[in-house]
Amino acid sequence: MTPATSLFTPVEGDLQLLADNLKQLVGNRHPILFAAAEHLFGAGGKRIRPAIVLLLSRATMLEQDITPRHRRLAEITEMIHTASLVHDDVVDESQMRRGVPTVHSLFGNRIAVLAGDFLFAQSSWYLANLDNLEVVKLLSEVIMDLATGEIQQGLNRFDASTSIETYLKKSYYKTASLIANSSKAAGLLSEVSRETAEHLYGYGRHLGLAFQIVDDILDFTSTTDTLGKPAGSDLKSGNLTAPVLFALREKPYLEVLIEREFAQEGDLEQALALIQDSQGIQQARELASHHAKLAAEHLACLPPSDSHQALINITDYVLSRLY
Ligand code: FPP
Ligand code: MG
Ligand code: MG
Repeated sequence: MTPATSLFTPVEGDLQLLADNLKQLVGNRHPILFAAAEHLFGAGGKRIRPAIVLLLSRATMLEQDITPRHRRLAEITEMIHTASLVHDDVVDESQMRRGVPTVHSLFGNRIAVLAGDFLFAQSSWYLANLDNLEVVKLLSEVIMDLATGEIQQGLNRFDASTSIETYLKKSYYKTASLIANSSKAAGLLSEVSRETAEHLYGYGRHLGLAFQIVDDILDFTSTTDTLGKPAGSDLKSGNLTAPVLFALREKPYLEVLIEREFAQEGDLEQALALIQDSQGIQQARELASHHAKLAAEHLACLPPSDSHQALINITDYVLSRLY
């Protein structure tokens, strides 16, 4: 699951610095947070979000080195992401992530909720200290979006009439908003043109959507071992993702099983079999690859560089997780 190391080559040193720094920043307040920081920012994380911020920073700074504010933006991005995962694992009652026990399963719900709150608050504080009002607005909107996406997902549980549009909107809030807005923010810190800033947003938005669709497919096609968390848990919990929504168009009986929330013995297995027997997974793959392609197209505004190439390669990597 770890991206091929070569993928992030232009920012490998930056990412090492970021990991050490995050442990320091989060851990020096309290022993519990220190333990959580070791756990959260230690080995295992893919760090794809800060890698994108750092690569975009390098790709837009070219002649000059990236600034401490670019680095801080990458740290803030990872802090927000990690905070959302700590809360997410409480909401989803998940015991394992990336093959290790989650914060709430180690320290209890109370500490996990507060540790997530602390990370959100701390990220806001560092964000304000960037002294760039537009960047503050972009990243604080992300925190609203994360909560919005999570609420929408909760409200749509077991709703078989959910449209692909609604699913994509929720996926934007839950996943793509952070990548899109932090990508744009990296450009703003490099003082790129308005037009380029919007392209960077477009890159992050489409990459984020592709990323979430792929994640949702893997929940059907991968094993618990490779995922580092139980496979098949989305459908079971009523989270209807792209493969299911496409399959519903072909297999009307799926709706019956979903609407009764898999209450009868064998319902879940039958639903999984119907999905496997449909074009749902293939259609979801096509949707992911459509968004990955759009993401790559938005990069045409950047001059050639190693970082630029790495950003293009990430759009392929996202899809390669499927094979
Ligand atoms: C992972 O999705 C979850 C997210 C990307 C966002 C979670 C956001 C929240 C819980 C809201 C945050 C709260 C505040 C106060 C802003 P997943 O559960 O589908 O994926 P997983 O398999 O990685 O758990
Ligand atoms: Mg979860
Ligand atoms: Mg969740």
